[in-house]
Amino acid sequence: MLCVKRFAPVLGAEVRGVDLAGGLDEETCREVRSALLRFGVLFFKEQTEIAPAVQVTIGKMFGELHAHPAAPQMPGYPEVFVIHAHRDSKVANGEFWHSDVSCDEEPPLGTMLQIHVLPEIGGDTLFANMYAAYDALSAPMRQMLSGLTARHESEHVYRGRYSDRGVNDRDKVYPESNHPVIRTHPETGRKAVYVNRTFTRGINELTEAESDAVLKLLFDHCERIDFQIRFRWEQNDVAFWDNRCVMHRAIWDYWPNERKGRRVTIKGERPR
Ligand code: SIN
Repeated sequence: MLCVKRFAPVLGAEVRGVDLAGGLDEETCREVRSALLRFGVLFFKEQTEIAPAVQVTIGKMFGELHAHPAAPQMPGYPEVFVIHAHRDSKVANGEFWHSDVSCDEEPPLGTMLQIHVLPEIGGDTLFANMYAAYDALSAPMRQMLSGLTARHESEHVYRGRYSDRGVNDRDKVYPESNHPVIRTHPETGRKAVYVNRTFTRGINELTEAESDAVLKLLFDHCERIDFQIRFRWEQNDVAFWDNRCVMHRAIWDYWPNERKGRRVTIKGERPR
């Protein structure tokens, strides 16, 4: 039986009572799925290191796994994305607010990340509730935004990003897609703001000046601290977040120390 305890009023829950390294049974998987829909991000505590094959199996219980368009594949486990920042890193993953790979036509439903190597201090991750961001907009603003679509690009994010890990992307075409500015979560039916500072570059139906102004307003609004939580990791904690209603940002404040983990990402559907 899972023990699920709210993390903060606005978002998240801590989960105890299951060690994911031992896999997930169907009944617990159902409980996890319903907790994810209710709380947006789950933090599994008191964990041991999950073998990559087990993490892949668990991920697949929630849907087909998503292949990252840019990150190098882990040998033997193409669905596993290694998160790693260290003394020689020039950038760290997820340093700016984003919903994972929102540039894809069918962006990920959710992401499950376990961190194995942590700096003594620092390396927290922020999460923000995009239902709350939508709910806090005025009725005229919601009306103005409904029906608008935004362009999510990735060339500027991914080109050359993983060259230090041996990725040669000279002939690679990186994804870009148009998505509604306000999306409806396919399972909860709730509305959420779906733009982010990393990937979203313009609102299609507005002039450039209007688009810049509205996106600035929305980015600032979505990043308001009252929609946020800050998670301080302990070794082998697992975070599982719903990209359809939650944004996140990893804080790289621990250089030259190391932080390392593995994530699997579950395919989603085209936002509507
Ligand atoms: C990411 O997946 O964006 C990185 C999150 C983290 O490292 O905490």
